[in-house]
Parts: sequence; C-alpha cells; structure tokens
Amino acid sequence: MNSNFVPLSAEELVTKISKIPRVNLALLPTVLEFAPNISKELGINLFIKRDDCTALAFGGNKTRHLEFIMAKAFSGDYDCILTGAASQSNFCRQAVAAANKLNLDSYLVLMHGIKGRMMQGNFLLYNILGANVDVVEGEDLEEIPKHLDKKYKDLIKKGRKPLLIYGGFGKEDTVLAAVSYANAMAEIDLQMKKQNFMADHLFVTAANMTQAGCELGAKILNWPTRIQGVSPVYWKMNIKKDIARICNEAAKMLDVNLEFMHNMINHDKSYVGVKYGSTTKEGVEAMKLLANKEGIILDPVYTSKGFAALIDYVKKGIIKKGENVIFIFTGGSPAVFAYSEEITR
Ligand SMILES: Cc1ncc(COP(=O)(O)O)c(C=O)c1O
Repeated sequence: MNSNFVPLSAEELVTKISKIPRVNLALLPTVLEFAPNISKELGINLFIKRDDCTALAFGGNKTRHLEFIMAKAFSGDYDCILTGAASQSNFCRQAVAAANKLNLDSYLVLMHGIKGRMMQGNFLLYNILGANVDVVEGEDLEEIPKHLDKKYKDLIKKGRKPLLIYGGFGKEDTVLAAVSYANAMAEIDLQMKKQNFMADHLFVTAANMTQAGCELGAKILNWPTRIQGVSPVYWKMNIKKDIARICNEAAKMLDVNLEFMHNMINHDKSYVGVKYGSTTKEGVEAMKLLANKEGIILDPVYTSKGFAALIDYVKKGIIKKGENVIFIFTGGSPAVFAYSEEITR
C-alpha cells in the first residue's frame, strides 16, 4: 500500500462508486450467509456471499459487472449487444438477460469447447432469452476477441448498431467489472460489521476482473484479509499482471492513490483440472459436500473448483482451524444441467 494512502470507510467507497454511470440490474446487497454445518465439518467459520442471488436470469457475479458495462447502452447509439465466451457462459446468459431489460437485441459468438451446442444449461437459457447465437470451432477462449471483431463488421454491414462487449478481454470492461466488485466489498464490509467479525481469508473463483475488484476493495477498506483467487482456466497471458493492471486502472477511475504489483496477487491455478470447462473429482466432491451440508448448489466449472481449493487449503493448514473465511459464490449453477454425466459418474 502507498504510505500516503488513507483508507476509506464503506460509505465513502460507495459514494465514490456512485459517480460512475450504472444501470440497475441486480438485487443488492446480496446476503452474507453464515454456513453452520460446513463450518463445523471444516473447523472454520465459513460465510458465503450469495452473489448467485443477484436475481437476473439465475444471477451471478456478471450481473454486478454488467450494471457498469451496460451503462453505455443508454446513449441511444446502440440497437443490440454483441458479446462472446464459452458455449456454457454464465456471462453471456446474464448479458442477454440485461440486454432484454434494456430493449436491445443480443448476438453471441461462442467457442465450441467441451459442451458445444448441447441444448442444456446456459445454452438452453440463451434460447429462452431469445439471443442470436453463433458457435465457432475451437476452445481457446483467448481467440474470442478475434471472432467478435469479425462478427462486429458483419453486423455493421447489415446496418445494426452493436454495443461490443469484450468482457474479460476488454480493457475498459474489466476495469468497470472490478469497480462493481469493489462495491461488493463495501457491502461485505458493512455486513461483517453487523455480524461482528473480520475475515481472515476471502476466496473467489476468478478469471481476472472479479478478483481484481476484491483486491482493490480490500485495500481501499484496509482489511487484513488474505484474498485468494482460484482459477477456472489456464491462461497464456500472465494473469497476475493482468489482475494488477485492472486493479491499478480501477484505482485511478475511483481516484484512490493505490498501486498494485503482480507479486501482491494470490491466484492459484492448481484446481483447473484437465482444462477450462472440464470437471474435477475434487470439484464435484466439494459441490456435493456443500449441497449436502447447506443445500447450496455450486457450479461445475468455476465455484466447485474454488470451493475444492478452500477445502484443500484447510487440509494443508493455510486456512487455520477457527479462522473466519468468506467464499464468494459467483453463481453459475444453471450449468449443472449440462454436466449431469460428469456429476453423476
Ligand atoms: C460462476 C463464475 N464464477 C467466476 C467467474 C470468473 O469471473 P471473472 O471473469 O470476473 O474473474 C465466472 C466467469 O465467467 C463465472 O461465470
């Protein structure tokens, strides 16, 4: 932390964030729920931030992101959105739902990956929500911007006016998404005060921008908490550098004097399994354990792996007995329906 940085209160942080254009899409604040049975099982105090309950089309972390990313839609310059990700994308599901609320059509370009056109889970929901969907061959998520640029040109030729959303690959989108998670951290700050504890650890399953927002919020609010990101994907890019870059740009946007370096970021890639979109034995076990103990259904691609990491960190003693741990449940549960075979194998 910069030596001349003065931490902010949650209220001061929220005031800063309120200056940034935003559309109302999420039901906030989401609950910070104490989970007594799994806490007992693991010997810790586990609190789950229920961002799966943001309410938009089954909810998730992306609803928070989209409140800021979609603010541009009000300019009147657009008649549709264009975005893309994997074929079972929680982001795309929430983006289409947000576009519907804002009276915009949706175009999705999806990487085929493991699940392709299987009409289940999020892919089924794109259909119900009425999105125009293209599936492109391949599974490298880092190719998405190239496919989006091509589709953008096609749509322009057809006279459409697309709002192009690069999401995790967009410089501006990632910063706005991080701001939305700094806001979530302000919510948690107030909730911790009410529930009379301070987190020793915060776990978040994160590709880049959600973790960046958690890191930024924790520093602004001066938490002593260890933030741990758990990756759902093997990136070619240096992800810690990207997270630090997003933190720094979001700090500038909020006009706070903080600087982040890649070596300040804890981001663990050891729970991905074979590749993005595949399940792991530990992830499925973690999903079933939480479902059995608390009736909470994690998703197979992101949060089950994040929760498997949390359990493993308890086993390894990185999380110590009796410590306070927050797990951010970033949503994604609709994807379970596309993974019935892997989950019941
Ligand atoms: C359920 C879920 N959790 C976590 C993430 C990771 O979020 P981010 O890309 O903002 O790091 C995603 C991204 O798609 C997601 O769908």
